[in-house]
Amino acid sequence: MPSTSRTSRIPRARLGLAGALAALLVAAGAVGGPAAQAGEQHRPKTLADLAQRHGRYFGSATDNPELTDTAYTTILGREFDMITPGNGMKWYATEPQQGVFDFSAGDEIVDLARANRQKVRAHTLVWHSQLPGWLTSREWTADELRAVLKNHIQTEVRHYRGKVYAWDVVNEAFNEDGTYRETVFYKTLGPGYIADSLRWAHEADPRAKLYLNDYNVEAVGPKSDAYYALAKELKAQGVPLHGFGLQAHLALQYGYPTTLEENLRRFSRLGLDTALTEVDVRMLLPATEEKLAQQADWYRDLTKACLAVRRCVGVTLWDYTDKYSWIPAFFPGQGAALPWDEQLTPKPAYHAIRKALK
Ligand code: XIL
Repeated sequence: MPSTSRTSRIPRARLGLAGALAALLVAAGAVGGPAAQAGEQHRPKTLADLAQRHGRYFGSATDNPELTDTAYTTILGREFDMITPGNGMKWYATEPQQGVFDFSAGDEIVDLARANRQKVRAHTLVWHSQLPGWLTSREWTADELRAVLKNHIQTEVRHYRGKVYAWDVVNEAFNEDGTYRETVFYKTLGPGYIADSLRWAHEADPRAKLYLNDYNVEAVGPKSDAYYALAKELKAQGVPLHGFGLQAHLALQYGYPTTLEENLRRFSRLGLDTALTEVDVRMLLPATEEKLAQQADWYRDLTKACLAVRRCVGVTLWDYTDKYSWIPAFFPGQGAALPWDEQLTPKPAYHAIRKALK
């Protein structure tokens, strides 16, 4: 679990001057006792507050274009204690030309998170998708690509050193059947690109928690088995791997991954942290009361699964509102995947998460 600076966080936005003074005195131990405790009980707790009582975080992804929406950023800043940039730290955004780096999008989100005293899960360094054209439009020798990959990883990780809690170092490395995905990195460098990437990232920021991250790995099965075997091997070789991220892009029509808790537990036993990193629960539209109720049950169950496994460090939603979900654009006819609706009103799923965290 991250040592959270927000454990005793005083939510400044909700306090007037008198309130801020009182809170300071309470924090300093100057006042307290039953009255202060009663006040505490009546304060509506955020998902982050509730998760912190279990030594977990509760996070959301966000993206730069949304940050002009102040109704949106108010909830983002209040309800969560972990933030992931949805796109701003990806390769196409950070190295649009070879050797020319642009961290402005990621920086904007890191700065906002810092202002809200939130931590950052950084995403992602090595992925086959959203690569810049200069990288995908030509052939590379192994030596060339190794140098390009090392420079990308180390320049970006160094830039965010000390500012991020964790990195998704390699994203989506396996196929559904547990074979390696034939990415440009795998095809050119072989499977060793994963250990190399972890070592390079560790050199550049020895304190960041380094993760492998993927989708459809929530249940025990061929794909999560491949990660389990790889993680075991990497640990045995002393490669700096600290966590396994399960994206958890779930869909009502495909059924709930009932072995999630068992799966989290086996990675814990390897000495790894686990996290649910990109949670959403999509459905075939239109959303009905029944589907929203089932969705709420799934959010409850996945939250409880994380709480049940000691080294599951937290849950991140892939943005918190249907207003900014990636689902409708990528899965036509599907949506309504998040705990807040398009009007930023909490849905049954939101209340189910709160209940699970109580
Ligand atoms: C998605 C973003 O949310 C979209 O805005 C973008 O167009 C495509 O990528 N798995 C991941 C994330 O690891 O980076 C993806 O994010 C969603 C699937």
